[in-house]
Amino acid sequence: MRILGIESSCDETGVALVETTEAGWPRLLAHALHSQIEMHQAYGGVVPELASRDHIRRVLPLTREVMARAGHTLNDVDVVAYTRGPGLAGALLVGSGVACALAASLGKPVIGIHHLEGHLLSPFLSEDPPQFPFVALLVSGGHTQLMRVDGVGRYALLGETIDDAAGEAFDKSAKLMGLPYPGGPGLSRLAEQGNPAAYKLPRPLLHSGDLDFSFAGLKTAVLTQCKKMGPAAHTEGAPERADLAASTQAAIVEVLTKKAMTALKETGLQRLVVAGGVGANRELRRQLNALCEKARVRVHYPELHLCTDNGAMIAMAAAMRLQAGLQGAEPRYSFDVKPRWPLQDIAVESV
Ligand code: KG4
Ligand code: ZN
Repeated sequence: MRILGIESSCDETGVALVETTEAGWPRLLAHALHSQIEMHQAYGGVVPELASRDHIRRVLPLTREVMARAGHTLNDVDVVAYTRGPGLAGALLVGSGVACALAASLGKPVIGIHHLEGHLLSPFLSEDPPQFPFVALLVSGGHTQLMRVDGVGRYALLGETIDDAAGEAFDKSAKLMGLPYPGGPGLSRLAEQGNPAAYKLPRPLLHSGDLDFSFAGLKTAVLTQCKKMGPAAHTEGAPERADLAASTQAAIVEVLTKKAMTALKETGLQRLVVAGGVGANRELRRQLNALCEKARVRVHYPELHLCTDNGAMIAMAAAMRLQAGLQGAEPRYSFDVKPRWPLQDIAVESV
């Protein structure tokens, strides 16, 4: 069975084709991606209407590219999968509409996928896929969650952010330092030249005794520090700016790693999966690798280019749900999107 996946929940248009196999996990045949980052940079953040319009422009050329790269035609597609939510309503409508229209024209069934389930299952696309059960640290631009994952569709929330997401903390702090949107990658590059102990920034909820996160206070502390520092906080080449970036990254990474290790200890699980855009952060990976090695925990990441949004994870999640018999793909082409959609809503059972 070949599944075409379409992702359009935010500022990346992603299309991919995966194929189920007799034994083992489905495999990726081809994928293509167009990032809108450059377009939104002029505005310092994602402009939803521009995002929707750009998805319209990109989705069919990307689909043609994927089919050509995979050496298949649309007639070889058995199921069309699309991101149903969460995300920007207009952007989701483009991917969903195109997926349903394409499937209708081919007479093939469709399946709507939860974006975070895509991130969660994206490490199964890597050469060294994890085994269930595991603890998942989901860290993206919109979400920060710790989940216990016992199988496809078997997700239990252990903790989550009560305000900003980790990616948002990176992006908002980076903006204060004059870095372009999205600031996460730029801030982490700048941090490599700085001293992480230079500024004392808060580690919110570090000792809260639960697995929840809070990053809004950190952003305020960075803002206060920026005001104290004056122009050095956002001047290119200023060593203070690199120190502030390193100190900010250190605060975010410390909270994420400590809470992830606590989740492993509390559940007694020996595997950790890190997914979502912030999972690309090198310092986070370095510290998690070191801590997990010490605790004899296996840690899995999606391949670096599949950490941020992409179509492969949507096609993969669809293939895994279909294989697990959790959801059928149906030739019903009316659709609705779910801009707000907690992942727990699609969990088949509480663990
Ligand atoms: O998963 P994703 O692509 O989109 C959402 O579903 O939100 O995550 C995007 C987020 C952004 O906040 C971006 O700044 C952050 O991931 N990000 C990073 C890095 N690469 C992407 N944050 C820190 N370090 C990175 N290397
Ligand atoms: Zn995402």
